[in-house]
Amino acid sequence: MSALLRPLRWWDVEELVALEQVLFGADTWTAPTWWAELAQPNRWYTCVQLPERAGEIAGYAGAAVNGAQADVMTIAVAPWAQCRGLGRQLLDALVAAVAERGASELLLEVRADNTAAQRLYARAGFERIAVRRGYYQSGGAQGPPSADAWVMRLRPVRRPVSGPSVPGPSVPGPSVSGLSVPGASIP
Ligand SMILES: CC(C)(COP(=O)(O)OP(=O)(O)OC[C@H]1O[C@@H](n2cnc3c(N)ncnc32)[C@H](O)[C@@H]1OP(=O)(O)O)[C@@H](O)C(=O)NCCC(=O)NCCS
Repeated sequence: MSALLRPLRWWDVEELVALEQVLFGADTWTAPTWWAELAQPNRWYTCVQLPERAGEIAGYAGAAVNGAQADVMTIAVAPWAQCRGLGRQLLDALVAAVAERGASELLLEVRADNTAAQRLYARAGFERIAVRRGYYQSGGAQGPPSADAWVMRLRPVRRPVSGPSVPGPSVPGPSVSGLSVPGASIP
């Protein structure tokens, strides 16, 4: 399978919102949230495409880097492209990108009932460090109305041995902008 990774751009937003409605239901990021995310200088977003459905986004991922700490903002693979290694490929690219930008730890939140994502992260070296009770207040694509979040951490952050390098906007030094984009937590 020959997958093409490229940076996400503003012209992808309409397709992303439609794809997220399938993947995340009520937790879909709105177009303005995507616009704000793609405009922030400390963000890195990529997507992956497959030759069999050229021109379509098969998956995407994004991170925020604030000095030594980075956060996974989102990661998802379209239903038709799941279980073929794209999630791992996107995560490897994300880890490589934040390592290149100086991050030494990478954090994320994942729904306590999302075992597929938890396994993806665990296999990449993430460990659960905390549980946030009732963190998610909507059902996502098909989950229960509220769910706990696992906080998972990768530390130290090392560039994966065969990790692809995906060009993206450069990230300047430490920022205090944080992750307070409304609805920006990943389900
Ligand atoms: C989580 C997600 C990104 C995984 O993407 P994917 O391309 O299917 O994952 P991969 O094929 O690269 O699999 C990587 C690892 O993830 C785990 N995994 C993926 N799908 C799984 C499933 N359905 N059940 C259990 N584990 C699964 C496995 O550990 C797998 O490695 P292994 O097969 O060697 O054991 C994808 O299922 C998805 O987009 N889900 C909906 C959105 C979402 O939940 N995003 C994460 C928010 S925190």
